[in-house]
Amino acid sequence: MRVTVLNGPNLNLLGSREPDVYGTARLVDIEESVRARADSLGVEISWVQTNHEGELVDLVQALSGNADGALVNAAALTHTSISLRDALLATDVPFVEVHLSNIFAREEERRKSLFADLAVGIIAGFGARSYLLGFDALIAHLEDRDG
Ligand code: DQA
Repeated sequence: MRVTVLNGPNLNLLGSREPDVYGTARLVDIEESVRARADSLGVEISWVQTNHEGELVDLVQALSGNADGALVNAAALTHTSISLRDALLATDVPFVEVHLSNIFAREEERRKSLFADLAVGIIAGFGARSYLLGFDALIAHLEDRDG
């Protein structure tokens, strides 16, 4: 099984960026924990972070045929990007949306996700653990689907 993890703008700054909101784990620490879980299950992980919207669109377009599922934290683009929504609408690859913070308990402009209705589900508010919870949820979904 192959899972792609897509990380959007400013997530490369995790660890030093607003630690009171996002915690102190760096993105590489989160990657390491997800990779360890994936290794234990024999799942192959492709991990990407980009600050560029168009690159994320390209990466979503490339999911089909290359991944069985995806974990997506599009960061601020979650609230703004119709082009990323269109790319996610066009893919047949199921994804779980993850956020470190509980976006629904934050400023009004962050309370809406343009992708939530397209996702298998959303995990938000558990800090770095959201990725592991999202990964486990995605794998459970894929296993259920494939019987
Ligand atoms: C985030 C929440 C977004 O609102 C914010 O722009 C981020 C991170 C999260 O993981 O909590 O960059 O996606």
